[in-house]
Amino acid sequence: MCGIMGFAGGGEAAPVILDGLKRLEYRGYDSAGIAVYDGGRFCVVKRKGRLSVLEGELQKAPVPGSIGIGHTRWATHGEPSDANSHPHLGSMSRIAIAHNGIVENYKALREYLAGKGVAFSSDTDSEVVAQLAEHYYSGNLLETVAKVINAIEGSFALEFMCLDEPDKIIAVKKYNPLIVGIASGATYVASDVPAILRHTRQVVYLADREIAVLTRDGAAFYNMDLEPIQKRPETISWSMDSAEKGGYEHFMYKEIMEQPRVIEDTLKSAMPGGSNEPVLDALDALRFDRIKIVACGSAYNAGSVGRYAFESLCRIPTEADLASEFRYRDALIDENTLVILVSQSGETADTIAATLEAKAKGAKTLAIVNVVGSTIAKEADYTIYTMAGPEIAVATTKAFSAQLILLYMLAIRLAHRLGRIGREEAGAMVAEIGTLPGHVRGIFGEVEKIQHYAATCFNSKSIFFIGRNIDYAIAMEGSLKLKEISYIHSEAYAGGELKHGTISLIEDNTLVVAISCCDRLAPKTESNVEQVISRGAKVLYITSGGIAFGSDKVFTLREPRVGELFAPSLSVVLLQLFSYYVAANKGCDIDKPRNLAKSVTVE
Ligand code: G6P
Repeated sequence: MCGIMGFAGGGEAAPVILDGLKRLEYRGYDSAGIAVYDGGRFCVVKRKGRLSVLEGELQKAPVPGSIGIGHTRWATHGEPSDANSHPHLGSMSRIAIAHNGIVENYKALREYLAGKGVAFSSDTDSEVVAQLAEHYYSGNLLETVAKVINAIEGSFALEFMCLDEPDKIIAVKKYNPLIVGIASGATYVASDVPAILRHTRQVVYLADREIAVLTRDGAAFYNMDLEPIQKRPETISWSMDSAEKGGYEHFMYKEIMEQPRVIEDTLKSAMPGGSNEPVLDALDALRFDRIKIVACGSAYNAGSVGRYAFESLCRIPTEADLASEFRYRDALIDENTLVILVSQSGETADTIAATLEAKAKGAKTLAIVNVVGSTIAKEADYTIYTMAGPEIAVATTKAFSAQLILLYMLAIRLAHRLGRIGREEAGAMVAEIGTLPGHVRGIFGEVEKIQHYAATCFNSKSIFFIGRNIDYAIAMEGSLKLKEISYIHSEAYAGGELKHGTISLIEDNTLVVAISCCDRLAPKTESNVEQVISRGAKVLYITSGGIAFGSDKVFTLREPRVGELFAPSLSVVLLQLFSYYVAANKGCDIDKPRNLAKSVTVE
């Protein structure tokens, strides 16, 4: 993962880089560093720990200079430490680099360089880039960068500086995101838009193996043959506010609260005149007899919900698949398969690989992505966008909700096209989706109740989530959310599976969260609840039905009643709030849980 940031301008570079890194911290946060050029040398400051540690260092000893690069790290090779933090310098301190990605052939390169007498000062794969650049350098940084890129294998977003050409930063990417921001008298390079939004809205998205040369006077772009290429800046319309906490204590809470708006916007985007409509229209012409929904993490859980919608409305065999499994399984797909790739970031390494694999096998690929211009958005044959805006908290909430809406809308459209549902029925379903934002706002009225209950659960060692069919799919997301941010062990089970082993884990006061929003399955889930109560469990029962259990072991949260396919959009909000308050009661770092990163750009 990792986030990188660079600045070439008139004022002091360090505060601009630090501010950018703060907005990229969601990409990794085990160490951070900056390198600023200052009259004949690089001032490098790097520290293990959160960015605040580096910030403290820079307050004590500011580094002057108007051009520099920075990095916030999520360790892959080499433990988090000062030495392994970026930027890395070559052993002659002539070239500085920061890297996001993995250099897969770093061992061979390291041996080669060590054989030439190069002394390494870190355990990282990235340092070979700095050392190799110094080894190749003979007076032209641009040529050196092209040579380095040809020599390294793997994925990268890289920024380079050289003492002999101190007015420029050179940036290049392959598989990892990188954008260039252009303002008057300054240029920026960063892993993501929020890092530069307060300085400029003019952004160039670099494609793989394109090289940008940044100076304070502007940016020039080249291909790998070092021929100049024209890149047109795009204007970013996100408000600065949407990338800030807006008065809330955590981004996660703010993003939960944004969901009614996100659902509305995403629904609109898929309606006549909406921004996704042209692609949805084009999809109508596709013919396929199977659907695979491929994704990671929460996006996979969204796909698991979507699977029920496609199968029940369209009667097309549909599977949800983990991208990390799919990519290596020689999956049985062909030109009659529609592969739907779901990803908030559009940069998840496994999902990118799955996209390429699906295309290589001739399948039709459709991406559901949040980040415009991201790799998956560009690689897929068709792309529709969730309208969640920038999501900062590592644990996804609003992007997940938006993914559900697009999956529902796709399923409804397809079912109508296939003649499985009539125009009126389709219209009624879309109208029901239109009621979801109001219902979510209603759920926000229950926040205190959820907060109080969560305060009784934060000491749990293990929490189990159960549900059946589509309730099971959303139980998986509830369980993932809880473990991500509260570090409480948690598993989701199909209710009927309990008796095949898991029930043996139920002890006195083990918490079971049961989701029951499918009327046809409610009696079955109620039986599961009875079974666990009689073995000592306490139960958080999330239901849109009428049942009241006679036991004081059951705490019921009522959910507004909507069709069973759309109920997950409401259940998930209750589950997010529950996880949020459990984690808050434990004093966890909710927006940046340990060991996780938002955008997982490595395998
Ligand atoms: C990480 C994030 C999750 C996300 C998953 C997939 O694990 O913490 O919230 O669901 O990656 O990411 P994507 O960007 O592809 O949706």
